[in-house]
Amino acid sequence: MLSESSAAVVTATLPVVRAHGEEITGRFYPRMFAAHPELLNLFNRGNQATGQQKAALAAAVVSYAEHLTGTGDAPWGPILDRIAHKHASLGITATSYTIVGRHLMGAIGEVLGDAVTPEVAAAWDEVYWLLACELIAREARLYTEAGLADGESVWRDWRVTEVTTEATDVRSFTLAPVDGGAVPDFVPGQYVSVAVDLDGGLGQQIRQYSLSGRPGAPQWRITVKRVRGEDGAPDGTVSTFLHERVAVGDTLRLSPPFGEVSAVAGDGPLLLVSAGIGLTPAMSALEHLAETAPERPVVLVHADRDGAAHAHRDALPRLYDRLPNLRLKLWYEQTSDGDELDALTAEVSSGRVDPELIPISPDAHVHLCGPLPFMNQIRGGLLRRGVPVERIAYEVFGPGMLRGGV
Ligand SMILES: Cc1cc2nc3c(=O)[nH]c(=O)nc-3n(C[C@H](O)[C@H](O)[C@H](O)COP(=O)(O)OP(=O)(O)OC[C@H]3O[C@@H](n4cnc5c(N)ncnc54)[C@H](O)[C@@H]3O)c2cc1C
Ligand code: HEM
Repeated sequence: MLSESSAAVVTATLPVVRAHGEEITGRFYPRMFAAHPELLNLFNRGNQATGQQKAALAAAVVSYAEHLTGTGDAPWGPILDRIAHKHASLGITATSYTIVGRHLMGAIGEVLGDAVTPEVAAAWDEVYWLLACELIAREARLYTEAGLADGESVWRDWRVTEVTTEATDVRSFTLAPVDGGAVPDFVPGQYVSVAVDLDGGLGQQIRQYSLSGRPGAPQWRITVKRVRGEDGAPDGTVSTFLHERVAVGDTLRLSPPFGEVSAVAGDGPLLLVSAGIGLTPAMSALEHLAETAPERPVVLVHADRDGAAHAHRDALPRLYDRLPNLRLKLWYEQTSDGDELDALTAEVSSGRVDPELIPISPDAHVHLCGPLPFMNQIRGGLLRRGVPVERIAYEVFGPGMLRGGV
């Protein structure tokens, strides 16, 4: 709870902080990196360059202030979970909150100038620390649940045991722990952070990849789409590195599995809807159900450019045999002769997914994963068809649950 005096000050200054939110967080990062260059390796440079990171931070702080002052309706529990899981996968510690807090308050002062009286500064500092304490507590719980001792690093070396080309520009990497220890369990839908050391002294970069294999398998698998730069933008840093530089026998640093979104929620009918590389949580879900609940009714709806771009397509006939109540509906923007082979197991349509044609049981749990516009469209369609909002879970492959989110 915000103190009464701070609540009044925050309510009065919220419009100006909201209006300058991204300017503030835009000043915050350079300030913090100048004072703490060691933190550069922790942050995603792609999200820095595209502005998504400053937007995500500004949206989080502003909407938390709205929540505290009773002026916003953002669903705070899920948002805190999302941030805490992401932070935990990066190994963020309580001590770094002091650094972030100091530079965020400094950036507020830089942007708003004289408007930041000592009273205003104290009120926003209170907002920051209430939010920080909630995140620190959640992250501490996640580290404990992951079996990490106090202060233990999240990073562990994994050896690449297999690299498989799954489709155009998509490869899977199978991984075993170098120390020979246990392979942690996970829930389909969870992801790991992968840290790579870039060539040419460019330092470390970290990205998240959903586990695409079966929980309980002796090794982990991630499936990575190589990101090609479009309209003059550079190629994706880490996905290109993984595709070009990582081979069998190499080691990668991985975090334990984190992620608040389950792709196998409930125990009744399940609808998995994915597009492009967003199919990785769904593949893990199908592999898991084939092993643990083969009778469960499942519909997989998947959208892709064409059959050649559709990763893990070869696994579908095997899964179809093992899951008697699995229905497969594929939408390819362009279909070709080869795709019709799938007619044995899957219904293949041309064009984009039509939410009206998705087979849905009234009591199904839904998991969506794909680009935001795709998820928005599907979610809108399912809501119109009466699927309760709380039954629809979704995974965003980037920051910004609060921005343009579904
Ligand atoms: C929870 C989660 C799960 C995920 N699971 C998967 C998965 O299973 N499989 C998978 O393939 N991916 C997954 N991702 C996405 C993955 O983490 C990476 O975001 C993805 O691989 C791209 O990373 P990159 O380093 O290759 O690209 P980046 O270097 O991060 O670039 C990303 C985009 O930003 C653009 N960009 C970069 N710099 C600039 C600039 N200066 N100007 C303009 N544009 C720029 C690039 O062109 C590119 O389009 C997941 C993400 C999350 C958050
Ligand atoms: C109250 C304080 C903080 C808030 C409100 C906050 C908010 C956020 C948000 C909203 C995201 C995006 C989550 C998503 O993927 O949707 C994020 C990611 C991240 N945060 Fe924080 N954060 C805070 C503190 C910290 C601290 C102390 C650090 C460590 C120095 C940190 C480092 C990161 C990193 C490295 C990412 C991933 C960046 C990326 O992938 O682009 N954060 N944070």
